[in-house]
Amino acid sequence: MADHPAFQLSSENYEVLVNAVVDYAIYMLDLNGHVISWNVGAERIKGYSREEILGEHFSCFFTEEDRLGGKPDLALNTAKNGGRFQDEGWRLRKDGTRFWALTVLDAVYDRQGRLIGLAKITRDITERHEAQQRLNEAREQLLQSQKLEALGQLTGGLAHDFNNLLTIIRGAADLGSRKTTDAGLLRQFEAIRNAADHGSNITRQLLAFARREPLRPQIIGPSETLRSTVQLLRQSLRSELQLTCDIPSGLPSIEVDPSQLELSLLNLAVNARDAITGAGTIHLSATCCELHDQYDGLQGNFVAISLRDNGCGISPEFAQRVFEPFFTTKQFGQGTGLGLSQVYGFAKQSGGDVRLHSEPGKGTTVTLYLPTRTRPDIDATDQPAAKHILLVEDDVNLAQVCKDMLEMMGFQVTLAHDAATAMQTFNQLLPVDLLFSDIRMPGGTNGLELANRIRQRQPELPVLLTTGFSEAQRSEALIYPLLNKPYTYESLSQAISELL
Ligand SMILES: Nc1ncnc2c1ncn2[C@@H]1O[C@H](COP(=O)(O)OP(=O)(O)OP(=O)(O)O)[C@@H](O)[C@H]1O
Ligand SMILES: [Mg+2]
Repeated sequence: MADHPAFQLSSENYEVLVNAVVDYAIYMLDLNGHVISWNVGAERIKGYSREEILGEHFSCFFTEEDRLGGKPDLALNTAKNGGRFQDEGWRLRKDGTRFWALTVLDAVYDRQGRLIGLAKITRDITERHEAQQRLNEAREQLLQSQKLEALGQLTGGLAHDFNNLLTIIRGAADLGSRKTTDAGLLRQFEAIRNAADHGSNITRQLLAFARREPLRPQIIGPSETLRSTVQLLRQSLRSELQLTCDIPSGLPSIEVDPSQLELSLLNLAVNARDAITGAGTIHLSATCCELHDQYDGLQGNFVAISLRDNGCGISPEFAQRVFEPFFTTKQFGQGTGLGLSQVYGFAKQSGGDVRLHSEPGKGTTVTLYLPTRTRPDIDATDQPAAKHILLVEDDVNLAQVCKDMLEMMGFQVTLAHDAATAMQTFNQLLPVDLLFSDIRMPGGTNGLELANRIRQRQPELPVLLTTGFSEAQRSEALIYPLLNKPYTYESLSQAISELL
C-alpha cells in the first residue's frame, strides 16, 4: 500500500505530520541513545526546545532513581535486541517536575534490515494516573470504613454481653464480701472487683468504638476546652517531652461530649509519648476548616484538632490497622490497642471523622474533624436532655454499680440510700423522669410506700421497683412493674426503656 502514489509521503510532509501531533512526544534516538529528532509534542510535554535537546542523551528524561537503577540502558538494549521496550512511570521535564508517562521505544530498520535508530513515543498521562490513584484511594478508604463498621458491630455486641457478665461478677464479689469478715477472702473479693472494674473500662472503650457509648454532648467553645486539656496532657507526659500548642481564641462552637474529647486527646498524647524515645515534641493545634465531601462525605464547617509528634511514625502496612480494636504494637501489658478505637468511635459518633498521617522515622499527626454548631440556641433546644432517674438503693455497692449502669445508658442519675432521703431529693430536684427503687429498705418506709407517696405528687411518674425477696412482697408490688434481682445491664435497660 505504501507504494501507491496516493500514499507517497515526502520526508517534508512526514515532518509536518509528526509536528502536528502535540499530545505525543515523538522523536528519534541514535543507537547510543542521543536525541536526533524532536517534534512539537515533545517540546510541549518535556519543555526542551529542539535546539537544546538535539544531541543530548535521552537518560536526562529519567528520574535519578531510574538512572541509578540503569533503566535508560535497559530500555535501549531491550529495544535494540527485541525490537521494542514499553514502560509506564515517572519522567522528568526540563524544569525538574515529574509527569507520569506511557512510553514506547521501537527499533527502526532501513530497507536492508539494518538497525539505524530508535523511535520513541511518550505520552503524558499524569491526569489519568492521578485520577486512577484517587479512585484507588477512595476504594481503599471505603473498604477500610466498611471493615471498621463490621468490626464495630461485632465489638458492640460482644461488649454488651461482657457488660452483663461483669455486672454479675462484680455484684457477686460485692455480695460475697459483705457476707464475710475473713481478711483473706475479703482481699480476694477485692481482687475480683478490681479485675471486673478493669474489664468494665475495656468494655466502655469497646462500646465507644462501636459508637454505642452514650455520649452527653454539649455545645462548647473548643478554644477553652482545649486549653484546659493541655494542662491535663502535661501531667501524663515525661518531663523531657515538650508540649506546644497553637489554639486560636474564638474557634466556632462544636457539639461534643467534653469528657470524651478530653479522653481522645489523652489517648493521642499517650500514643505520641510512647512513640518518642528520649526527648521530643508534641504539638496540639486547632483550626477551622470547610470540607466538601471529603472524608466519607463530610460537608460543612469543622474544627480540625491535630496532635502531631516527631516520634517513630507508623509503617504504611500498620497505618491501615491502627484504628481497629486491640491492634497494638506495644508489649503485653503496655497497650490494649483501644486508644485509637475510642478516638475513632468518638469522632464518628460526634458527626465527624479522624485522619492519621504518618511518616516512618519522622512522626505522626492525627486530626479530629468535629462539626461546628452555628446556631447554639436553636440546636441546644433541639437536643433532648438526658432523662433524670431517681435511684433508691440501700446497698451502697449495688447502688454504685446500678448508677454506673444507668449512666452508661445515658441517664442522669440521682442516688438516695433510703426512702426519706429519696423523698427529700424528689422535692428539691424536680423534674424526675423515673423512680427506680429497691423495695426492702431500712428506716421504716419501703420502696412501695415511697412510690405511692411520690405518685401522689406526680401521678404520671413511671416507677420501676426491684427486689430479690419473697413472693408475698412481689404480689404486693404488682401495681408497679418489677425487676427481679439480680438484674443485668440488659434487663435493666429493657425495663426502663419500656417505661420511658
Ligand atoms: N503517635 C503514634 N506514633 C507511632 N505509632 C502510633 C501512634 N499512635 C498509635 N500508634 C500505633 O498504633 C497502635 C494502636 O494505638 P492505640 O492507641 O489504639 O493502642 P495502644 O496505644 O497500643 O494501646 P492503648 O491505647 O489501648 O493503651 C499502637 O500500638 C502503635 O503501634
Ligand atoms: Mg494508645
